[in-house]
Amino acid sequence: MSENPSVSPVHVVILAAGKGTRMRSATPKVLHQLSGLPMIDYALRAAATLEPGSITVVVGHEADQVRAHLQHHPQVQTVRQEPQLGTGHALLQAETVLADRQGVVVLLSGDVPLLTGHTLRALLDAHESAGAAASLVTAILERSYGYGRIVRRGGEIVRVVEERDASPTERDIKEINAGIYAFDLPPLFEALRGIGAANAQGEYYLPDLVGIYRRRNLPVATWTVPNPGEIRGINSRSELAEVNRMVRQQKNEELMAAGVTLVDPATTYVDVDVLVGPDTVIHPGVHLEGSTRIGGACELHAGVRIVNSTIGDRVTVLNHSVIVDSTIAAACSVGPFAHLRPGSTMGEGAKVGNFVELKKATLGAGAKASHLSYLGDATVGEHTNIGAGTITCNYDGVSKHQTIIGKHAFIGSDASLIAPVTIGDDAYIAAGSAITSDVPAGALAVARARQENKEGWVGRRKAERGGQ
Ligand code: UD1
Ligand code: CA
Repeated sequence: MSENPSVSPVHVVILAAGKGTRMRSATPKVLHQLSGLPMIDYALRAAATLEPGSITVVVGHEADQVRAHLQHHPQVQTVRQEPQLGTGHALLQAETVLADRQGVVVLLSGDVPLLTGHTLRALLDAHESAGAAASLVTAILERSYGYGRIVRRGGEIVRVVEERDASPTERDIKEINAGIYAFDLPPLFEALRGIGAANAQGEYYLPDLVGIYRRRNLPVATWTVPNPGEIRGINSRSELAEVNRMVRQQKNEELMAAGVTLVDPATTYVDVDVLVGPDTVIHPGVHLEGSTRIGGACELHAGVRIVNSTIGDRVTVLNHSVIVDSTIAAACSVGPFAHLRPGSTMGEGAKVGNFVELKKATLGAGAKASHLSYLGDATVGEHTNIGAGTITCNYDGVSKHQTIIGKHAFIGSDASLIAPVTIGDDAYIAAGSAITSDVPAGALAVARARQENKEGWVGRRKAERGGQ
């Protein structure tokens, strides 16, 4: 954050205290997720592009939850609005932090996530060049229902009227208030105190400032956003889903422009911060979440879900695999139906096949676990082969224990490795063994009952049962 003394400093205030009644949720509206980020993070990102002198978030409804989230944003301070008496009353709460400041306040709503830094810059430029005391972002919407309408006389804005207070003719107005403003600091807080609550909701409406400023001969300007999609507010789950689709579509377009093949963009779900390398092919129903990084020339088959994981180049992930908080090096193969739980690592060219589960497991380069295994709290050396059905018995009912397997080892099918246990390089484990003690390098361990064949047993039993 910087304060450039040559221009008047910008301070951002974000309103996030409202109840969000129409969401019908125990979670505050601004914490609802949009492509992997809480809604308020979008407003914070747009705000940060202005390099403001301060960012203040007004919290109220479920304030503790919102504050807990804002801990991840150390540059943000919060003020509390209690009770929540409307947007005008909300901004007044920021007076404690802004009273002695100079400059311009940019006011955002926590529920308008698609807003870009570019639009905020344009608002500030319009505000400055008009020499206005207050400026509003407006938009022309065919369906203006629910928004405050901009009432003009002789081209000049005279007031904003809310949906519930509007007359039928005012409801026909297509120009709406986006809820994004620039205010010069000096007259602001004094004027806010002049707002009344004589309206349909009995609330202190911030847009009423327009009328107050005009009565005081303080100039009010507007700036109309060219892309009205940007100022979509989210008030309901249905609007959340719609905006989510818009964010997703934009991300998918960016990926395709960067050389990623999306077989069916309509069913591809990639969170905003995910990176994907060129020539990677993503099949339908894939979810890439959080801070996931995918290399180039990978193939992610249908139904794959990858969360906060890093995947190298030329990796194939077959259908319906789930990978969480894990790291996979180049040229690996995973799935189908594999589950990499947190803390798993695969070295270059390693393979995890059908119905294999990893948890805090490290597979060395070229190691293979191709079928039906559980490897938990385990380290597997490079080029070791884990046979079908191998299980690390890592839990004794009280604590978890480690299994360490060296390089170039061979674990026969259906072995149980009862941890803590160490198996040396090049060792062999016979199929069906229950291994309870360490196996030295180069040894063969057989830990199962010897087979006994009882010759003629079937015939004798039949005779006993009278030929049946
Ligand atoms: C508001 C505007 C409307 C505009 C629309 C744009 C008012 C009165 N109306 O309506 O003109 O078209 O935004 O999206 O401002 N909030 C508080 N404290 C409160 C009330 C609200 O912090 O006491 C916060 C909310 O958390 C939200 C924002 O202010 O982030 C806007 O409130 P909301 O109730 O969604 O206003 P709208 O009805 O959408
Ligand atoms: Ca709103």
